[in-house]
Amino acid sequence: MANTSDTVLVIGACGQLGSELTLELRNLYGGSNVVAADISAPKQADLRDSGPFEKVDVLDTKVLADLAAKYKFKQIYHLAAVLSATGEKNPKFAWKLNMDGLFNVLDLALEQKVEKVYWPSSIAVFGPSTPRQNTPQHTIMDPNTVYGISKQAGERWCEYYFQKYGLDVRSLRYPGLIGYKALPGGGTTDYAVDIYHKALEGETFECFLSGNTYLPMMYMPDAIKATLDLMHAPAEQVKVRDSYNLSAMSFSPEEITASIQKHLPDFKITYKPDSRQQIADSWPQSIDDSAAQQDWGWKPAYDLDAMTADMLLNLKKMKEEQTLA
Ligand code: SER
Repeated sequence: MANTSDTVLVIGACGQLGSELTLELRNLYGGSNVVAADISAPKQADLRDSGPFEKVDVLDTKVLADLAAKYKFKQIYHLAAVLSATGEKNPKFAWKLNMDGLFNVLDLALEQKVEKVYWPSSIAVFGPSTPRQNTPQHTIMDPNTVYGISKQAGERWCEYYFQKYGLDVRSLRYPGLIGYKALPGGGTTDYAVDIYHKALEGETFECFLSGNTYLPMMYMPDAIKATLDLMHAPAEQVKVRDSYNLSAMSFSPEEITASIQKHLPDFKITYKPDSRQQIADSWPQSIDDSAAQQDWGWKPAYDLDAMTADMLLNLKKMKEEQTLA
């Protein structure tokens, strides 16, 4: 259950996940109780106008401590990270931001007696030797991107802080996330967002993955629901303390194209795989999330066609509003 008087900090609030999660948290906890923090100010009006914003670099421990002293947070959602494709361009920086950022938040939570911390992990924790179909919760993990290595190490540290210090850290291994409100930045699954934008603009989409590359994916409303369900579950139901496998759907570029063509029959795709193909080929194609189902009742609502219908409807609405504005 949500304690609706909690003050909540969302770090990375202007990102693809943060911009939607922050709004939902504000609906639940009240606008002024949920502080949106990011390295740069929000562009989205609804995010900007619905509650406080603080400029925060998660590598700056002084700014974090001042912020915590000011607001006395009960919960922190730490979403800021360098994703898989961008991470490969500057591996040392990705490692620094992803790991030091996590340590700063975990230590802050201990010092300031924050009650609950949320930190996202990813399917990127898996690697080429991991079973690719129905990937189990516990299995071989040999990630070969800096992003994946940082997420796997981060999972171990989250469990460590829980076991050794009793910090209530909770985490999900997200599949590729797809939403219409904000664009993702620098991931391997980003094509599945971009493709809807191109389809509506009447353009041919050039895909950086081959047509039969299957990856686990999830529509944003499901990701938000999973995150809040996990965070609001009684602590004793949260039995996995590194990070939960989480699943909704798996599809290939060919299949998402066919789904879009049911609405826009003239839409066309071409394929030009780049370095992201290798990353995709090292990740699972489908995920076994039975632990999340059993422990806190996880169940997704959207499949590929339901997501496509909703994405196209809402993107179209947004584009029409932008033209009118
Ligand atoms: N969506 C992420 C990426 O592609 C995976 O967690 O990097």
